[in-house]
Amino acid sequence: MTQDELKTLVGQAALQYVVPGEIVGVGTGSTVNKFIDALAALKDRIPGAVSSSEASTARLQALGIRVFDANEVGELSVYIDGADEIDGRGHMIKGGGAALTREKIVAAQSRRFICIADASKRVEVLGQFPLPVEVIPMAAARITRQFAALGGTARLRMKDGAPLVTDNGQQILDVTGLALHDPLGFESAVNQWPGVVTVGVFAHQKAAICLLGTPEGVQTLRYEGA
Ligand code: 5RP
Repeated sequence: MTQDELKTLVGQAALQYVVPGEIVGVGTGSTVNKFIDALAALKDRIPGAVSSSEASTARLQALGIRVFDANEVGELSVYIDGADEIDGRGHMIKGGGAALTREKIVAAQSRRFICIADASKRVEVLGQFPLPVEVIPMAAARITRQFAALGGTARLRMKDGAPLVTDNGQQILDVTGLALHDPLGFESAVNQWPGVVTVGVFAHQKAAICLLGTPEGVQTLRYEGA
């Protein structure tokens, strides 16, 4: 099976976690796009979605799924999103699609995070994938030095020859060279650095369940404490 087929498989499998009559939290990325496409079949059974990016909002609306502002609604029962890496405890690196801040906001508003990922995303220790960090532009150089002091190399994410601008009007640093043995502590520490908007470690908002797409089918991994 190709990676794209594995993404389709887990995107469809996630439908079982959508609660009829309730608004669903929706993430961002190519795996989530498969979920959104599958969700269209259920659109008459849910009021709509809270979206984590302009891209997901556009896709949801194009399929006739209503998108609610996060401030209009209360707690969501479920948030469905992909990941760039997920470890054995459900901690993740996210933000490859630059949507990490809104993803963390919607995840925090939801009781359960259901991660959908192909098997390539499962790792023992987070950090092989460059860690995305959304920053206020005037702090980018200092935060780059702070990561260097930890042994990391931060690079400004570019798009079409200019710094990428997020949906929130900020920039992204991608940090390589880190091995995150203590994702919870690392997330808490970096969150305190002035100018950091969001660090792409999802340990406080970890997955409750991961639907992992493997050549043998979808594995359901459950994590304690989520
Ligand atoms: C976007 C994300 C995505 O969930 C992550 O990058 C995985 O994307 P894909 O499903 O395309 O592999 O965090 O900010």
